[in-house]
Amino acid sequence: MENNTLSKREVEALIDFYLASGVDGFLEEEPVDRFAAPAKPPVSLADFQSPATQTPNSPPNQRGQQPVSSAGPAAQQQGRPPQTPPASASPIPAAPQGGAVIPDQAAINSARERALTAQSLDELRELLGTFEGCNLRLTAKNLVFADGNPVAKVMFVGEAPGRDEDILGKPFVGRSGQLLDRMLTAIGLDRSSAYIANVVPWRPPGNRTPTPQETELCKPFIQRQITLANPDVLVFLGAASAKSLLDVKDGIRRLRGQWKEYDSGSRKIPCVATYHPAYLLRSPLEKRLSWRDFLAIRAKLDDMNGS
Ligand code: URA
Repeated sequence: MENNTLSKREVEALIDFYLASGVDGFLEEEPVDRFAAPAKPPVSLADFQSPATQTPNSPPNQRGQQPVSSAGPAAQQQGRPPQTPPASASPIPAAPQGGAVIPDQAAINSARERALTAQSLDELRELLGTFEGCNLRLTAKNLVFADGNPVAKVMFVGEAPGRDEDILGKPFVGRSGQLLDRMLTAIGLDRSSAYIANVVPWRPPGNRTPTPQETELCKPFIQRQITLANPDVLVFLGAASAKSLLDVKDGIRRLRGQWKEYDSGSRKIPCVATYHPAYLLRSPLEKRLSWRDFLAIRAKLDDMNGS
């Protein structure tokens, strides 16, 4: 009879193999076929039909939210008065229950429709929490929605959470986040005066790059998040977020430091791309160019403040 017991050495070799393949956590005792047919088709336009009362491109109306992380006095100094969400805010449609989905155009269309129904950042976070169109949610531990002050004048957008962010459910809390914090401090900002999010709000397994389909599926949500947060200045951290949100193909070397306008649907927001902090950790010499970008961000904020 075949002996299925692995020796200690074989188990160690297997774990080494998993680690080298990017596996860094156990999910289930037994393998799960995530493509097994769910009880109901997971993504269909009808499931996400917008309520009749919806005003998809209406201007942001959620300025009175408390910062996601602890806000210092700077949070009160944003000069952006709180507003209450309208009583007519659309109810959040229920999402279907299911396993993995095939990321196709219908799923992307559904994501667009669904994101537009959110009338506040809180609603958007809830919608994402029940959105089953992106398979990354199956392997991520947490939704990583945002950190910082949602009414801050400046919003930073990265690519996707890593391991530390996945564990804590907050963007930029690992090594690159610590560098970002130092860069913010250098221009007089912190997480009470900046709002931080990612294009993709779930960690791709093993920190791999999100696929183009994953990015397209998540894009309507970050677009809506920008519209609802309505910052005065938008900063793309790295090529991935700049390319996806500006719909351009240029590399980060060409893009960085170039001020452009991001059309949020309700207005044009001055925006700029800069190097991703993770890249700066690998290429510290490039910090001098980032420093220029951060000084330009400070100057833009001061200009807009009239100081
Ligand atoms: N890199 C990102 O792009 N986002 C994070 O939140 C962390 C690392």
